[in-house]
Amino acid sequence: MPEALVHKMPEAILVAENVQMTFAAPDSPLEALAEATFSLQPNAFVSIIGPSGCGKSTLLRILAGLVPPTSGRVLFAGRPLAEPQREIAMVFQHPALMPWRTALRNVMLPLEVLGEGHGEAERRAGDMLSLVGLSEFAQALPRDLSGGMAQRVALARGLVHNPDLLLLDEPFGALDALTRERLNAELIEIWQKRRVTVLMVTHNIQEAVYLSDRVLTMSPRPGRIVLDLPIDLPRPRTQETLYLPRFTALTRILRDSLG
Ligand SMILES: Nc1ncnc2c1ncn2[C@@H]1O[C@H](COP(=O)(O)OP(=O)(O)OP(=O)(O)O)[C@@H](O)[C@H]1O
Ligand SMILES: [Mg+2]
Repeated sequence: MPEALVHKMPEAILVAENVQMTFAAPDSPLEALAEATFSLQPNAFVSIIGPSGCGKSTLLRILAGLVPPTSGRVLFAGRPLAEPQREIAMVFQHPALMPWRTALRNVMLPLEVLGEGHGEAERRAGDMLSLVGLSEFAQALPRDLSGGMAQRVALARGLVHNPDLLLLDEPFGALDALTRERLNAELIEIWQKRRVTVLMVTHNIQEAVYLSDRVLTMSPRPGRIVLDLPIDLPRPRTQETLYLPRFTALTRILRDSLG
């Protein structure tokens, strides 16, 4: 690449280089992730699709700094990632809310951990809850929330401390199509307002195309990245986007790459 072009490209916020993961097991080691190499540009929205068990959650946990890869390395903001960072937030596949804390106090948690004062934490958590449309449920306990509401609380908790990178592991996996559609629209709005970089795992090809700047697909376990596809659809995306021939063409390319 000509040097002039290299300098114009913004520095990647996250780089995964030959990331590989093998779990120790009593009988034989289990290779969960064969190879992942890619980078994320700041403010990008990138999705990952792959068959169940191909190592997507494993990859996200590595990128969150929660577990080290068996081999390869991850750079975050130009530095090797060795532990969780406050600039990286992860929303897990199953929303892990604290059952004894209200929705509001669940969202306040990351701010409390960071030593934010109670009043300020409460104010920011309240703002986040209203951004995900849950102001009315601030005082509800997780057991009194629907599945979709619990996922929105988990999303609010992930975003409340303004992370630079948001890792989402199938955040809308267990929801009906209409709720999912609404949350997708909310997510796009939050992404644009907050200028956060998003890496999202999903099983849904249409959802990935609709939301993303790029979609990566993975092979069955042990997973490797088989395609890194730029999504050249204009924004803002609307219901009409779903009927564009290019939308269909992109979903087909992704579907074909999954075998
Ligand atoms: N801590 C662990 N110890 C041992 N094996 C693990 C561990 N975590 C994951 N695995 C194994 O690694 C493989 C990949 O798991 P992972 O959860 O990353 O898949 P996934 O792509 O997220 O699947 P799904 O789409 O179903 O969520 C699976 O075979 C799983 O059993
Ligand atoms: Mg998973």
